[in-house]
Parts: sequence; structure tokens; C-alpha cells
Amino acid sequence: MTLKFQKLHPHFVAEVSPIELRQVDDRGTLTEIRDGMDKYAVLVFRDQPFTDPEQLDFARRLDGQLHSRTGVAAIGKSRLGDEALTDISNIDDTGEVFAPGDRRRMYGLGNRLWHTDASFVDPPGRYSMLSARVIPSVPVDTEFADMRAAYDALPLEMKAQLEHLRAHHSIAYSRHTLGFEFSENEQEQLKGAVHPLIRRMPRSGRRSLYLASHASRILDWPVPEGRLLLRDLMEHATQPQFVYRHCWRVGDFVMWDNRATMHRARPFDDAKYRRELRRVTTLDIAEPA
Ligand SMILES: [Fe+2]
Repeated sequence: MTLKFQKLHPHFVAEVSPIELRQVDDRGTLTEIRDGMDKYAVLVFRDQPFTDPEQLDFARRLDGQLHSRTGVAAIGKSRLGDEALTDISNIDDTGEVFAPGDRRRMYGLGNRLWHTDASFVDPPGRYSMLSARVIPSVPVDTEFADMRAAYDALPLEMKAQLEHLRAHHSIAYSRHTLGFEFSENEQEQLKGAVHPLIRRMPRSGRRSLYLASHASRILDWPVPEGRLLLRDLMEHATQPQFVYRHCWRVGDFVMWDNRATMHRARPFDDAKYRRELRRVTTLDIAEPA
């Protein structure tokens, strides 16, 4: 199958057609999709009517092992019955929208901070795939930032300074900045992880800033100095020229490379409108042949 990639932003993001992802299992097409991810970092597929098991199966076929040590798994069982399938919804177990003070809602609000999925575990997240099931009539957009283009735009001296730095990533830290606290028992399951600040994409060779609201400090640096550097870099990387805004439709399936992008959900009236998406994230381990 030969796919068409239509670029949606000067730096990254392409809409892919024609394809029915649920039925894709041949090596050639899976390779074409991976090549597209190397080039565009975010791929948009329209009209993909996934069920939950189909979404899990596709993620495994494309990229192997799934991330299940999520932050939300630490605070309670998923209503979907599989911790690898993250419920990106404002719906409780009874099918109603969350009450404003619901703890899972408070936790979910953290998705409105710029972040990259599963940077707080090791191995971290590689691809995330978000399937839109219920979308209201008001905008419930997600923004993406191209961290390769942001890296490329840095001055040479800055690139040299950053090259060998490492950051500690913790979801307990990022949620704490919003006033959400995990219990001691929950924190035991979420100790965080250390990753390089600059990542080199194995196939394309491009470098990327690996940042997130989860990044709590730079190793071997005084904490305030490291946090200031992280803030400066987040500000740099999220300037409008590096950002694409996705306006969701039912049936959209958006896939992104967490090593090369950050993303955040934009606010909407979540006490009034239902929004249901499902996310699966793969782990950054050896890739399937
Ligand atoms: Fe996310």
C-alpha cells in the first residue's frame, strides 16, 4: 500500500490516507507508518472506528510492548479493565461526568501541562496513540510541540551546554506543581526516572529536546538552577512556530512520538460536555523487526 502524507504544519505533523488501521498487519505498511513517524513525529488518521481491543492489538503490531505503569493506575483501577488502555475521559464508573472535586478529575487536569507521555518510567514511552470516541460540539483541542525543530533553533553554544545533561522525571512532581498530591503508598509506585535532556532519534539521527512538566531537576545541578533551565527550554520549545493544534473529530486516531514532541490538552467546560478518548503508549525498547 502506498500512503499519502499531507503535511499540516511547516515543521511536522501529517495526515495519512487512505488507510484502515484496524486491518493493517503487513510489514510493508507498518514500516511505512514508522517511516512517517520518523519524518513527521505526529500522524493524524481520520475515520478510524477502533474498539478497545482493536486499539491495543494495533499498538502491539506496530510497536511491541505497551506502557501500563501509568500515574492513573497508581490511584485506582481503570473502568476499562486494562491498565495499558488509558481512559482520557471525564466520565466516572457510573457513566456520568466527574464531579468537580473528583480525585480522578484533579489528576487528569495535569494533562493540560506540556508533557511527554511516560517520561517518568524507564524505559519511557515511545509512541502514543489516541482514539477519539466521543467529542462534544465545543473545541477540546490538543496541542503538540516539535522538540526537534525547537532543538535545531537553539544557538550552538546552548546545544553544546545541553549535550550531556540528564533530567529526573517524576509524575508526583508535575502533579504537585498543580496542588495534586499522591499518597505515600502511591508515590512508592511512582519513583520517577532519569533520562538524557537531548535525545538522538535512532533512525533519522535528528536530535530532540526531551522535556516535560514531569522534569523535576537537572542531575548534578543545584535544584533552582536546573528548574530555571527547564523552564527556559519549555518556553523556547512551545513558541507558536513550533506548535500544532489538533481539533478533534469522532474517529480521529492521532499517533505521536514522545521522544520528539510534547503535548497538552486545552481547557473546555468538562462539567458540562462529555469527552471520551482512549490512549495506548508503547515503550521505548528494541523495535519489532
Ligand atoms: Fe499525554
